[in-house]
Amino acid sequence: MPIPLQNDCFLRACLRQRTPHTPLWLMRQAGRYLPEYRATREKAGNSFMGLATNVAYATEVTLQPLERFPLDAAILFSDILTVPDAMGLGLSFGAGEGPRFAHPVRDEAAVAALQVPDLNRLRYVFDAVASIRRALVTRDAQGREVARVPLIGFSGSPWTLACYMVEGGGSSDYRLVKSMLYARPDLMQRILQVNADAVTAYLNAQVDAGAQALMIFDSWGGVLADGAFQRFSLDYTRRVVAGLQREKNGQRIPVIVFTKGGGLWLQELAGCGADVVGLDWTVHLGRARAAVGERVALQGNLDPMVLFAPPEVVAREAVAVLDAFGPPQRADGGWDGHVFNLGHGINQHTPPEHVSALVEAVHSHSRRQRQAPAKR
Ligand code: CP3
Repeated sequence: MPIPLQNDCFLRACLRQRTPHTPLWLMRQAGRYLPEYRATREKAGNSFMGLATNVAYATEVTLQPLERFPLDAAILFSDILTVPDAMGLGLSFGAGEGPRFAHPVRDEAAVAALQVPDLNRLRYVFDAVASIRRALVTRDAQGREVARVPLIGFSGSPWTLACYMVEGGGSSDYRLVKSMLYARPDLMQRILQVNADAVTAYLNAQVDAGAQALMIFDSWGGVLADGAFQRFSLDYTRRVVAGLQREKNGQRIPVIVFTKGGGLWLQELAGCGADVVGLDWTVHLGRARAAVGERVALQGNLDPMVLFAPPEVVAREAVAVLDAFGPPQRADGGWDGHVFNLGHGINQHTPPEHVSALVEAVHSHSRRQRQAPAKR
């Protein structure tokens, strides 16, 4: 028998079921803005991969934000770039720089050599998932074993991984990857198909290990032209979603797809097979809900920079996001789904006390919203 969840608000909101408050978690909730994260990173030889590949450290760091804030979900501590690293591209994180690949994929020979990696090379990720699930178990007031919150597993989208694989790191203009896309679409499509197969297998292995929801980060889908987005990003995300295991032990495994800058393609994203569409701060949640709220739940979408304002402003802006979505109960008695999040990852300079103010405001205001009569 699986251990019951103490707080299942996140999973319920993903599935558009009734919840007592709007659940929230934060993209990059475990990370450098937390002094305890920096301390563990120090112990791991001051290296991101040192942390991510060590099961005990990855577990410790995943739980750190939950010790500080009453967040409604945990997210596996890892990175989207573990998959191309396992393909043999040689990932490193230089001091104070972003990620680098020693062997970027830039020509026909490199594309031909690309293969779905042996999942054993990603064993450390699946071991971390299993270890985090165990670490989330606690006892309730009656002394029964319960899991505090669900654990989210994740991957990059085929397109977002391809950006790093071709560019060899971050990019400001995506010149190399877009050159390949326009000049040699056949090569780009081969990379994307290998990535889609790899990501599908990787996410299913996370479910086998214990992930209770899955998120696909399409961080750079929004840099594509209309038309190119559908062909080179969304189409491959859809293939991944179609290949995922969606149920385990009788429990649905919700899938979240987040395309940063994808608001213009909301209708198409809502049809990609995901249960939840993540949105950045350029989108009005009420309008998005009116357009697709009966098909998918929505996740987002506070501008992460709001967290640099004083706590009372943080609270006010959080209320504005909740009010934009509106009370989730509908006039017909059904429920629409909102998972509160930032519109992108939390910035490393964010003051942790401001995150406390955010979590408090989201929980208290969303409880109040549920007491007001439904407007829709
Ligand atoms: O959300 C979480 O708390 C889980 C952990 C997580 C990390 N990366 C840890 C990390 C997740 C979900 C990611 C996803 C990720 N990684 C994305 C998609 C989300 C997004 O932000 O768009 C992308 C594009 C990456 C690639 C990546 N990893 C970059 C560009 C960088 C360096 C830039 C930066 O923000 O530091 C990383 C490193 C990284 N991944 C860090 C963390 C906590 C910082 C590493 C450190 O401690 O030095």
